[in-house]
Amino acid sequence: MLLGMSVVVTGGNRGIGYAVCERLARTGRRVVLVARDPARGAAAVRELPGEVDLVAGDLSTVAGVRILAEELRRLCPEIEVLVHNAGLWPSRRVLTADGVEEAFAVNHLAPFLLNHLLEDRLRRVVQVSAGLFVKGKADPERTAYGLDFHPVRTYADTKLCNVLTLPLFARRWQDAGVTIDALHPGVIRTGLGDRGGVLGLVLKAAKFFWTAPEHGATPVVRLALEEKGSGRFFNVDKELPVHLDQELGERIWRQAAALTGVG
Ligand SMILES: NC(=O)c1ccc[n+]([C@@H]2O[C@H](COP(=O)([O-])OP(=O)(O)OC[C@H]3O[C@@H](n4cnc5c(N)ncnc54)[C@H](OP(=O)(O)O)[C@@H]3O)[C@@H](O)[C@H]2O)c1
Repeated sequence: MLLGMSVVVTGGNRGIGYAVCERLARTGRRVVLVARDPARGAAAVRELPGEVDLVAGDLSTVAGVRILAEELRRLCPEIEVLVHNAGLWPSRRVLTADGVEEAFAVNHLAPFLLNHLLEDRLRRVVQVSAGLFVKGKADPERTAYGLDFHPVRTYADTKLCNVLTLPLFARRWQDAGVTIDALHPGVIRTGLGDRGGVLGLVLKAAKFFWTAPEHGATPVVRLALEEKGSGRFFNVDKELPVHLDQELGERIWRQAAALTGVG
């Protein structure tokens, strides 16, 4: 444990994020729990052991992420680990105030922007991704605006966009010694993707057999506290070689930079 440092977990008020906060707090670390809704965040903090601070912040807009980053900079002179856990599996096309498809904003643009705005404070970043990224077909011109929206595929597309930036962040931070890895946490029983209709009922039935959030937290915490590598993707505990389209990755990076206004 590094004295004076914090671990920051987005989407920490429920699901896998909550279980990650609990585990990390039990190690004696100071945890900063980021939650979209202040009341839901405060309720989670009350249940957690140890030293946990709440920062409320909505990840769906560039302005919201910038305000959140300012608050995190104020509270955290150094960040031992930033866990990008907040995520969204959308059932319908919703555009944010920035005119961007909501899951693209939360799953991809928000981690991208936070990484930039906090990079001088960071030692390590863990991206909670999804194995489904392999099914993604990100099209920068369409995916960002939900023009190719699909209630199952869009989630995979946004996770692919996010994974495509992984090797680029690893390279960018190589000399500074900041590391970044991503993982699929397993198939876990949480509120992710809950929806109405037939698909919602099928999902609800399937979730009955899935494992509890604590199981999803185990590989996240292991990766968070390990600093041996960078640019890697893990399927739960097993490292997977990922073969990404580098040219697409660079296009996705340039687009994210333009949409978020970072250099
Ligand atoms: N569960 C699985 O089987 C599974 C599999 C693969 C990957 N994952 C990934 O694991 C991560 C955690 O998912 P989970 O299963 O724990 O899902 P969850 O229970 O639905 O939790 C999602 C979290 O993200 C937050 N969030 C959503 N939109 C946000 C926004 N605009 N601003 C700030 N926070 C926002 C939610 O906040 P609210 O409570 O305010 O909505 C919640 O805290 C996600 O990245 C997900 O893609 C999960």
